[in-house]
Amino acid sequence: MNILTFDSNEKLNEAGANIIAGLVQTQPKAVLGLATGGTPVGIYERLVSDFKRGLFSFSQATSFNLDEYVGLDKKHPQSYYAYMHEHLFHHIDLPAERAHIPNGNAPDPQAECERYDRLIADAGQIDLQLLGIGHNGHIGFNEPAHALIRGTHVVDLAEETLKANARFFDSVDEVPKQAITMGVGTILKAKTILLVVRGADKADIVHRALTGPITTDCPASLLQTHPHLVVLLDKEAAGKLS
Ligand code: PGA
Repeated sequence: MNILTFDSNEKLNEAGANIIAGLVQTQPKAVLGLATGGTPVGIYERLVSDFKRGLFSFSQATSFNLDEYVGLDKKHPQSYYAYMHEHLFHHIDLPAERAHIPNGNAPDPQAECERYDRLIADAGQIDLQLLGIGHNGHIGFNEPAHALIRGTHVVDLAEETLKANARFFDSVDEVPKQAITMGVGTILKAKTILLVVRGADKADIVHRALTGPITTDCPASLLQTHPHLVVLLDKEAAGKLS
């Protein structure tokens, strides 16, 4: 595990963007695992501005997003489809047919999960999986549970997740109660995992996930078993690590 701590958001964003850009420069056909939420926004902004300087291209790359809300139209401003287009896809040259996001509005969600897993399998291994972490230790939308599911599946969102994500909606009641998420088996199969965490409110969960017992009660703790885990933290999120 390689933990890097930054004293400014700007430096953290630069480091995150450089890791992603470095991968597509050396491996143009890279398969990227992408994340949404508040955490990666600054990294995507930096990546877009470096891309616009002509430093690298995504024209041969492929991407898979971690998750999508169930029952939210793609056009809804809080869908992860809308998020990815606003923050990244609209600004870069990644071909639309290779920028994959689960379809949260699929008539048969189970079939959609199977389709998504087939697409990931066909692309081979995910080279770099970008991840945030929930206050309860979720990764993607793999919530704490007695057992975790390997592949893509429909999940009931935890109360804590609904509350945390209510900030993006008019009220907590508007947050979709379910999502389609990549499973932890798929996440852990990525060649490299890039976990990014910001803020004092995440210091406890960072400490628990990276130094506590490996348990499905804290899905992010499974990352301790990954051979190539890179963690980017601001100094607030790193506050409980010695
Ligand atoms: P956040 O979400 O980046 O909006 O804090 C992270 C997560 O829930 O995985």
